[in-house]
Amino acid sequence: MRIDILTVLPELLKGPFEHSILKRAISKNLVEVHVHNIRDYASGRHKQVDDYAFGGGAGMVMMAEPIDKAIGSLKGKRNYDEVIFMTPDGEKFDQKIANNLSVKENIIILCGHYKGVDHRVREHLITREISIGDYVLTGGELAAAVVADSIVRLIPGVISDETSALSDSFQDGLLAPPVYTRPSEYKGWKVPDVLLSGNDKLIGEWRHEQSIKRTIERRPELWSEGSDDYSE
Ligand code: ADE
Repeated sequence: MRIDILTVLPELLKGPFEHSILKRAISKNLVEVHVHNIRDYASGRHKQVDDYAFGGGAGMVMMAEPIDKAIGSLKGKRNYDEVIFMTPDGEKFDQKIANNLSVKENIIILCGHYKGVDHRVREHLITREISIGDYVLTGGELAAAVVADSIVRLIPGVISDETSALSDSFQDGLLAPPVYTRPSEYKGWKVPDVLLSGNDKLIGEWRHEQSIKRTIERRPELWSEGSDDYSE
C-alpha cells in the first residue's frame, strides 16, 4: 500500500511515521508513506498557495492550482483508489472506514488549512471527505496522521501478533476487554483469577463478557447497532 499526503506543513507529519510500528512497517516495505509539500507545485516567485476568499470574509483559502498540479503529478505515475480530503464536515471516521481503506492499493490524503480549500478541488478532484470528529483542528495534518496510523496497523504483517488487530476495540462492534500484566498482585490490587487459571475457554468467555459489559456501559449505541457488519 502507498499513502501520499499533501500538505502545506510537511514538518507536522514527520514525527508520526518515524517511530515504532509505523516506522517498522515502512522499513519492512509493507507500506510507503510519502509527504509532499503543496508549495512545491505553486507557481510564481512567491510560491503562493492561498488567497483571499471571493465575496470577502476572514481567512485565506487554499488555491486550486497547486493542489491540482500535485494530485495530477501523482496520478501521472500510478492509479489512485481514493483522493481523500481531511475536513471537519466530512463523513465521521470509524473502524469500518479504516478497514475499507486498509485494503486499497494507493491513496492520496489532502490536508486542508486556513479557511479551507477552493471548493472546485472538492468537486472535481476529491473522492472522499473524512472528519476525525466533531471538533476543528488548525489543519488536516493531525487528522491525516490519525487516519494513516489506523489504516497501516491493519495491513497484514504490520502488527507482530496478527490476531491483535482483530481483537481491537470496535473490530467486532465491541469495546476491548481489560488487560493485565505482571505482577499478578500490586499494592494489593489483584488480577482477576480467571486470567491466571490457564483455562483458555474460560478466559475467552470472560473476555467476551467483559467486552459486552463495557460496551453496554460506555457505548450503548454501539451495542444497539448490534449486528452491524464492520468488515465493509
Ligand atoms: N481539519 C480540521 N479539523 C478536522 C477534523 N475534525 N477532521 C478532519 N480534518 C480536520
